[in-house]
Amino acid sequence: MSRRRRVYEGKAKILFEGPEPGTLVQYFKDDATAFNNKKHAIITGKGVLNNRISEYLMMRLGDIGVPTHFVRRLNMREQLIREVEIIPVEVVVRNVAAGSLSTRLGLEEGSPLPRSIVEYYYKSDELSDPLVSEEHVTAFGWASYQELDEILNLTLRINDFLTGLFMGVGLRLIDLKLEFGRLWEDEEMRLVLADEISPDNCRLWDRQTNEKFDKDRFRRDLGNVQEGYAEIARRLGILPEA
Ligand code: C5P
Repeated sequence: MSRRRRVYEGKAKILFEGPEPGTLVQYFKDDATAFNNKKHAIITGKGVLNNRISEYLMMRLGDIGVPTHFVRRLNMREQLIREVEIIPVEVVVRNVAAGSLSTRLGLEEGSPLPRSIVEYYYKSDELSDPLVSEEHVTAFGWASYQELDEILNLTLRINDFLTGLFMGVGLRLIDLKLEFGRLWEDEEMRLVLADEISPDNCRLWDRQTNEKFDKDRFRRDLGNVQEGYAEIARRLGILPEA
């Protein structure tokens, strides 16, 4: 693990001071948590897989012009990122009913949605990330109207691109959670995709059998969590060597 100064420790990652000003080192832990920390376990190898999967997806998104905080992977568990001011809103985009949407609206898991649906959750561990509306986001100043508009456009673009990318390797992107941050460059602020994109924050099902390969294996005690993540990496052609 990095010997640099620890800036922040989250449930699945640690941020360390980076080698240059304005950079951070993002370290991926093996810890898995669910239900706002009520359930916790160590999934050996998860951090290595998420580091690699997130690197790959952020780079592919960068290739199509989506701005991200990702700079480069440093080693098995660490990546260099740009330091951003995180917008305290988790953006969830859903293509198929599952999880909390199914529970909230009584929809059968796996049932198609009329169109992709974007939801906002206020990032707060104490409040268990409550669902909020655009009104809350702008009224409380978590993001401006202009930023929210950009966040929505980026979210739909990211979702479209990743849906196609995963479909190409036999996976259905059911839903995913994104976080955005503000990055200042020469007095100019721009929004970038931040955090990570990994099976910790997406639902990915087999295209044919609907087998789940994501964190629901952990949340629902389905077993073989690491194997599910490794299968996603394998299909993407990026399985790290053991
Ligand atoms: O639980 P729910 O159905 O609302 O989750 C929707 C999507 O957002 C899932 O892919 C889940 O992994 C992700 N999520 C997350 N972090 C949270 C809540 C949900 O990554 N705090």
